[in-house]
Amino acid sequence: MLKKLLMTGAAGGVGKSLRPLLHRLAERVVLSDITEISDLSPHETFRRCDLGDRAHVDALFDGVDGVLHLGGISLEKPFDLILNGNIVGVYNLFEAARHHDMPRIIFASSNHVTGFYTRHERVDPSMPVRPDSLYGVSKVFGEGIASLYFDKFGQECLSIRIGWCFPKPINPRTQAIWLGVEDLFDLCERGFTAPRVGHTIIYAVSDNEEMWWDNSSAAFLGWKPRQSSARWRADVLANMKLETPTDPDVIYQGGHFATSKHPDDE
Ligand SMILES: NC(=O)c1ccc[n+]([C@@H]2O[C@H](COP(=O)([O-])OP(=O)(O)OC[C@H]3O[C@@H](n4cnc5c(N)ncnc54)[C@H](O)[C@@H]3O)[C@@H](O)[C@H]2O)c1
Repeated sequence: MLKKLLMTGAAGGVGKSLRPLLHRLAERVVLSDITEISDLSPHETFRRCDLGDRAHVDALFDGVDGVLHLGGISLEKPFDLILNGNIVGVYNLFEAARHHDMPRIIFASSNHVTGFYTRHERVDPSMPVRPDSLYGVSKVFGEGIASLYFDKFGQECLSIRIGWCFPKPINPRTQAIWLGVEDLFDLCERGFTAPRVGHTIIYAVSDNEEMWWDNSSAAFLGWKPRQSSARWRADVLANMKLETPTDPDVIYQGGHFATSKHPDDE
């Protein structure tokens, strides 16, 4: 059991869905976000913080023995926003950890780090990155900082390349990469309690019928997702148009991230 877990990005979709489960993992939970959170449970406290502000990020770490880093820009956006939230922000976070006894970090990376692989390829974390967006590149940066800080300073971090963590899939792509919140919680628990994680990257995806990723290099975590998007298969099929197999949106794992314009040209 952790004594004090820091969760950044706590006001976002994933943070909100994880919050009711975190009392199973930590005695106290510090929720942080740039957006206010007011509906706190007794074991929760809230600290507003812009990840781009080094001193404020540093101040979040007092007594923290685990960090779940969800905060930042979660979509393709103009570079300045991504720079502050996902590049300066992740650097500030790892620097704060380095100065505060290096609590283990779980970093919310993304499938968009490898979004330019096709859906017929089976990708594992040792393969070269093929980001599909500036957002995907920012997650590559986060994984790079995680690698550097482990090799150089011994900072442990589990980078989880999240697929689609929403209540239910909305199309064939999100059906293939759906991640249930119970499975996510189980992965985080294993990340914080495993004897070692070093610098490890894993795809965070439930036990769906279609699988694009190979997590065997992280088998030591013993994570066996139990949820599946299969129960929505009929709904997804009933509500979609037939796909064109030559459409780049359909070819690439990143879907529309792979085909979207540069955000400055939107
Ligand atoms: N939901 C998914 O399916 C999915 C898939 C892949 C990766 N991820 C990653 O998981 C994390 C959580 O995803 P989500 O869906 O909850 O995203 P979200 O956009 O709903 O939440 C992100 C939170 O970060 C906060 N934030 C943004 N910029 C900030 C800054 N500069 N300082 C402090 N806080 C800031 C936002 O206010 C927001 O509450 C993100 O890092 C995202 O990139 C999510």
